[in-house]
Amino acid sequence: MGGYTLIENAPLVARNTLRVAARAKLLAEIRDASKLPELLDFPAVRAGRLLVLGEGSNILLTGDVDGTVLAMETRGVHVEQDGEVARIAVAAGERWDDFVRWTLGQGFAGLENLILIPGTVGAAPIQNIGAYGMEVAEFIESVEAWDQVKKRVVTLDRNACAFAYRDSLFKREPDRFIVTAVRFALPRTHTLRLDYAGIREELERMGVDKPAPFHIAEAVVHLRTRKLPDPAVIGNAGSFFKNPIVEVAQGETLKREYAELVAWPGNDSRWKLSAAWLIEAAGFKGMREGDAGMSNRHALVLVNHGTASGHELWQLAQCVIEGVHARFGVRLEPEPVVIGSEYE
Ligand code: FAD
Ligand code: EPU
Repeated sequence: MGGYTLIENAPLVARNTLRVAARAKLLAEIRDASKLPELLDFPAVRAGRLLVLGEGSNILLTGDVDGTVLAMETRGVHVEQDGEVARIAVAAGERWDDFVRWTLGQGFAGLENLILIPGTVGAAPIQNIGAYGMEVAEFIESVEAWDQVKKRVVTLDRNACAFAYRDSLFKREPDRFIVTAVRFALPRTHTLRLDYAGIREELERMGVDKPAPFHIAEAVVHLRTRKLPDPAVIGNAGSFFKNPIVEVAQGETLKREYAELVAWPGNDSRWKLSAAWLIEAAGFKGMREGDAGMSNRHALVLVNHGTASGHELWQLAQCVIEGVHARFGVRLEPEPVVIGSEYE
């Protein structure tokens, strides 16, 4: 039995950054993606649900997993073509931040704004990770996945992945695809993204007037480290809610009533509202119920102060959803996958 390990009744507390002490009936750690069909064919695996897990940095487990957790631990980075644009195939289990730093070291541009995002490469396309004015979709050429419906490996090009803000085909059909590798197309040079609030100021503070991609990366590291709580210090899954997108009319009405509302008009005649602002204005920033809380550093981050259960964390999140809705008429949606809820 090479290529994977099976563990019964496995603890998951060290496998999710919210530090929820859930267990999996069966944990399958896979290191060789070619063994997937064999592994998926085990009666014990076929019998229950299957939950694919990377580093668990965007998931809330509201209870134990009565089925198999498939931990993606495959490794490998292959430059398939070099030149002005490099084509790089990366195994799903590689750490995202290690890969970003490696690309910068090789002189490839594109991913600098996405430095320091926790998680695996295989999870990056699931919610189309984004930060500081950039989304990963822009640099993904294709995604290779095991299709649970077709029972074979498929390659989906960027269009087929249907990427959108914190969304993709993979998120919409959650149990269908197991991402095994992502192929990136990275340029040697490109137009740097400096417009997200804080980047230019940070570059100025660093004394950089002609920025290269690694300067942007350094600026983003400074900004992220200042703003977001570190999961190694306090359990969290980054932003717990998506920034809600509303019709212009609703945005304008809210803006008339609340002049300080933070909102970004989109190019599709809708507005994106700052969920952090809504949560803070509704009075939830820094609140705490037992060990479940909303961070006092960033209003959008649900935190586990110690031993909060997944159920307790989800109860607090629902309380925030209801409170923001009652105050502003806007219904927040969780960004992480909430296992055991209607948002799964
Ligand atoms: P997991 O949490 O393990 O899984 C997330 C979802 O993807 C689950 O539904 C899982 O089933 C599915 N999945 C994972 N791997 C695969 C696979 N190989 N095939 C199929 N499905 C799979 N996100 C951003 O977009 N921008 C940010 O700036 C950002 N900042 C963050 C900061 C902090 C401190 C934290 C804790 C999180 C942050 N996140 C951010 C969220 C998170 O880092 C990303 O969503 C990341 O891509 C999750 O990777 P993961 O390996 O931990 O996925
Ligand atoms: N704000 C508040 N209160 C706070 C924090 C922020 O009112 O406690 C307001 C401020 O006005 C601030 C604005 O919210 O200017 C935006 O804050 P920030 O720049 O931190 O961005 P965000 O909208 O809260 C999004 C992503 C992050 C990503 C950052 C940077 C979502 C859901 N979140 O956060 O992604 O890192 O922008 O690009 O889109 C994640 O997905 O887990 C994540 C951390």
